[in-house]
Parts: sequence; structure tokens; C-alpha cells
Amino acid sequence: MPNDASIKIDGKEFPYPVMIGSEGEKAVDVRNLRKDTGYIFYDQGYGNTGSCESQVTFLDGDNGILRHRGYPIEQLAEHSNFIETAYLVIYGELPTAKQWKTFSDLLRANSAIETQMQRVFEGFPKDAPPMAMLSSIVGSLAAHYHQLATNNFEKDLQQFDLAAAMAISKIRTIGAMIYRHSRGLPFLHPKDLPFCDNLLHLMFSEPYQDYVAIPEVTKALNLILLMHTDHEQNCSTSTVRMVGSSGANLFTSLSAGINALSGPLHGGANTAVMNMLQSIHDEHDDGTRFIEAAKGGSKSNRLMGFGHAVYRNFDPRARVIGQACDVVLKKLGKSDPLLDIAHNLEQAALKDDYFISRKLYPNVDFYSGIIFRALGIPTNMFTVMFAIGRTPGWIANWKEVASNPKGRIYRPRQVYTGVVKRDYVTIAKRS
Ligand code: ACO
Repeated sequence: MPNDASIKIDGKEFPYPVMIGSEGEKAVDVRNLRKDTGYIFYDQGYGNTGSCESQVTFLDGDNGILRHRGYPIEQLAEHSNFIETAYLVIYGELPTAKQWKTFSDLLRANSAIETQMQRVFEGFPKDAPPMAMLSSIVGSLAAHYHQLATNNFEKDLQQFDLAAAMAISKIRTIGAMIYRHSRGLPFLHPKDLPFCDNLLHLMFSEPYQDYVAIPEVTKALNLILLMHTDHEQNCSTSTVRMVGSSGANLFTSLSAGINALSGPLHGGANTAVMNMLQSIHDEHDDGTRFIEAAKGGSKSNRLMGFGHAVYRNFDPRARVIGQACDVVLKKLGKSDPLLDIAHNLEQAALKDDYFISRKLYPNVDFYSGIIFRALGIPTNMFTVMFAIGRTPGWIANWKEVASNPKGRIYRPRQVYTGVVKRDYVTIAKRS
């Protein structure tokens, strides 16, 4: 293994140290490149750029590996639950019984949304996009709790614990309130219930009748949120880190991450998958139209739920969720024609040269919507559920940035390709 690398530019060679991550990932540390050579690296979309060191999640896209703090996602899916995995991701270790109790108590104590904040909802039309409401209301948490989780939190870790618990618990409650606001239903108060049961209560209870928990539903919701807990330096997590690097408070950074997640190429894909499956169903098609259109190369016709920026093999989360779909539907005694369509579409795509040669496999979003649907969660709420699940990962990444004494503000460079210098022309002389 080399202990340094060199870059030859304009006939001159410049040495740079090599960095090796704990799982053997190789990088060349080019922090001094521009200073030494006057050049920068052009890496559109940052596919070859490590923007940070991180100890939260290890992802090997070539081999379909995903581990949080060293624990394989498959083991967490089998043995853990969402809140325990959230603790692991944020604090680095699985909680002891005492830590578990403290964390759970803090989540319960911070689950409600103040009346003042509830009034923010009055400004939104009922049909406002759920993710737009979520980012605005999480942004307004920064107004309510501006003294919490600034990047001085190192001096007061109690304060960070409180802010992290608030974010996890309140974003869950806000998500449920968005669901109720969209339907014109009155808001409900959180109860003394475990996290996922509380989410189901907040969404589905009636003022006159409590939601009756179904263990299989709670278990499936736990699994699907856990599957979304963290995913290395994806678009929304990088956004949270970037905003956090300016010294912005946790809630402001989370609000920015929610906006990044809302796009159809990222978290919005779960909604797009469901719309695609529904269209195939309504058109009595076998999926050929979507597969053929996806092969045309246009971004707007991509096969939704397929492909991934880093996985060049299968997405391990898709495997877990795909298997869970069959189990959950069976346990709930439901069948869903969209699940059959999804299975058939997957098989057809995996036999097609276009998808094989580009190593495009189903991603986490391909099957997650089927489970959400089975749980009674409407399509336009899928990305909000994703955000509830991803909140711990965003918090863990924000914490790494905020607590790094050597951290710098994130500030990429560019290659300018615009007009070169010219002189100002008054309006009368412009043609
Ligand atoms: N359907 C058809 N073609 C695709 C798809 C797709 N879903 N995904 C990638 N391709 C094509 C690209 O057009 C490209 O073709 P080319 O080589 O002929 O130019 C080739 O496959 C390679 O593309 P990648 O470099 O692998 O894709 P990129 O990293 O730019 O994008 C992304 C990754 C955004 C996830 C893409 O695969 C996509 O748009 N998928 C559909 C949306 C989706 O499911 N997003 C959810 C991702 S998971 C998440 O964010 C939680």
C-alpha cells in the first residue's frame, strides 16, 4: 500500500499523503493541491470527493455493505428497533439499560408541539406539499429553541442531548400533524407510548377513539424507519453537514436537509415509485412502457426506485425491505396488486441489458412504499416518513461537524465557464 501519491502537473510532480480508512477505503489527501499547483480537482457531483472523515456509517457500494458504527444493517434489522439504532448512530454505542431509559424519557418528555408552533399550520393550505410544511416547521424549531444546539454544544453536552431528543421526537409529532392538517383533522397530543406506537396514535387515533395498536404494524414501521436511519454522505446528509459547517444550529441544518431530501431523485423517489406502479396498474400495462422509456436516457423518465449513486451491486436495504413486504402483507392479511407489479418489474429490469450493463438494481425506495401503503400511510406522506427515519443520521453527522475543533466551513470551488470581463453598457446603448 503506498504511503503517498503524486500528481504531475505542468511537468512538475507534487507528493500528497494517502489516507486509509478503518475499512480500507483509500483516499489521496489533496488539501494543499490548489496552494501547491494552482489547480483544483473538477469532480461534478462529488462522486470522487471525500468531503469529511466520519465514524457513523460505513457503506461499500460495490459489495452491497451497509454498517452503522460497525453493526451490519441486516443484524440491526433483525435485533434492534428504530430508537435503539438512532441512539447507536448518534452516540456511537448501543445503549445500556440506563442510557436507554434516559434517552426514552427524554424523547417522551419532548414529544409535544407548543400551541404557538401549532399556529404555524394555520398559514398552510390543506394541499401544501408535506415536505414543504415539514421543512418550514422544523425551521421554526430554530426560532423556538435558538439557544439549543448551537455549535458551542461541546461546552454543554446536556444541551445537545436535549436538542437531539427534541429533534427526533418533535419531527415525528410534526410529521403526524402534517398528515392530520392535510385531512382537516384535529391535532392530537402524544401519549406515554413507545416511539412508533405514538406515531401511529398521533396519525390515526380519533378524538373519540384511540388507535388500536397492531403489533405487526408497529414492528413494520420500526423496521422501515430503522432502514432509513443513516446512509453516509448522501445529498441531504451532506446538506446538513454543509449548513452545520457555517455554525448554524441543529434545527436550521435539519430543515435544510429536509429540503434536500424532498427531491424526486432522493427521498421523493418513494412517492414517484408508487405513482409509477399505480400508473402501470391503471393502464393494465406489464411495465414495458416504463422500462422502455427509462432506457431513453432522459432524467425525467428514469425507472424510479432503480439505481443508486453509490451501490453498484444490490442495495442491502432494498433486500431487507423487499422481503419484509411479503411478510408484512401476509401478517396483515392484505394483498396488494402493486407488490406483484413491483416484483414483475424488478424481474424484467434485471434481465434487461440496459440495467445489467449499468449495474442498476432496486434501491431502498422500490419496495418501501408498498409497506407504507399496507400501514395505511398515504403516498404523499412517504417522504415525510423517510425524513422521520433519517433524522438520527442527520443529527449524528451535524454533531461530527459541530464538534470538530479543526473543522472548516464547507466551501467547494468551481470552474468558471461564463463570460469573461467586459465593460458596463448603459440601458440606452443596449441593443
Ligand atoms: N432508470 C434508467 N436509467 C438510469 C437510472 C434509472 N433509474 N439510474 C441511472 N440510470 C442510467 C443513467 O442515465 C446513466 O446512463 P448512461 O451511462 O447511459 O449515461 C447510468 O444509468 C449510470 O447512472 P449513475 O451514474 O449510476 O446514476 P447517478 O449516480 O447519476 O444517479 C440516481 C443515481 C439519482 C439514484 C439514479 O439512479 C436515479 O435517478 N434513480 C431513480 C430515482 C431513485 O430511485 N432515487 C432514489 C435513490 S435512493 C435514495 O436517495 C434514498
